[in-house]
Amino acid sequence: MALTTALVLGAGGGLGKAMVQQFLADPSISRVVAVSRNGCPADVADARLDWLVSDYSEQSMTSVVAQLTPSKGTVTRVCLCHGLLHSESVWPEKRLEDITADALHEVFHANTVVPALWLKHLHSLLKGALPCAVAVLSARVGSIGDNRLGGWYAYRTSKSALNMMLQTTAVEYSRRVKNVKLISFHPGTTDTALSKPFQAAVPTDKLFTTEFVAGRLATIMASAEPDGQLAYLDWDNKTIPW
Ligand SMILES: NC(=O)c1ccc[n+]([C@@H]2O[C@H](COP(=O)([O-])OP(=O)(O)OC[C@H]3O[C@@H](n4cnc5c(N)ncnc54)[C@H](OP(=O)(O)O)[C@@H]3O)[C@@H](O)[C@H]2O)c1
Repeated sequence: MALTTALVLGAGGGLGKAMVQQFLADPSISRVVAVSRNGCPADVADARLDWLVSDYSEQSMTSVVAQLTPSKGTVTRVCLCHGLLHSESVWPEKRLEDITADALHEVFHANTVVPALWLKHLHSLLKGALPCAVAVLSARVGSIGDNRLGGWYAYRTSKSALNMMLQTTAVEYSRRVKNVKLISFHPGTTDTALSKPFQAAVPTDKLFTTEFVAGRLATIMASAEPDGQLAYLDWDNKTIPW
């Protein structure tokens, strides 16, 4: 069996950690590499897992990719799990008057800039003979066609910008990294710290566990065929309109 590596970036969050555990449970994956701002949680430690710490500066990304150089040609799964909806200084806007430059910058940095920089730094590592599925956690609220509710200006627009960043990357990857399939993924409302303050309005059967969503995404990634196109998919493998 060929040596295969799965990479999870932003591995410390709810969905990131679930993707690490999902890949560790897959016997076809030889090694899992997780990257986070914090160290490895005790409950995911595993002999097949390497956990790297990064502050997501470009210098740190360069160092992560350098450490992964021996794995070049073996990476078959990459999951980018970065995302910010609220923080100590950010709360989703309800109306125009709530928009601030600082919040826009903070949200865009986590949701759009960090994933874009990873795809810049990773392309030479990912190029190879094995098909590689790269899933980036986006959100349905980034769909312009689907937006009838309004609100959440920073989060929505950062995810729309992420989708355009991914489409533009897909065009270039189709020429330079042909073995990669890019997927912009909407997990559905999932029980994590990100959705916690907004869960009261969500019916119980619409609030997913991280394990359920990780299983869905792993299945989608396993059947992804590199075709030079970006897919925008939800947890049910249904295409979302741009
Ligand atoms: N949960 C939901 O209902 C839901 C719905 C739709 C879309 N999503 C998307 O799913 C993804 C994962 O979210 P989650 O629910 O797992 O949330 P979470 O538990 O809050 O995890 C947040 C993730 O974002 C990273 N992150 C946080 N602040 C960051 C910053 N300033 N710069 C770079 N990375 C940062 C964290 O990485 P570290 O490992 O470094 O901590 C962590 O992986 C996000 O893209 C989110 O938008 C979630």
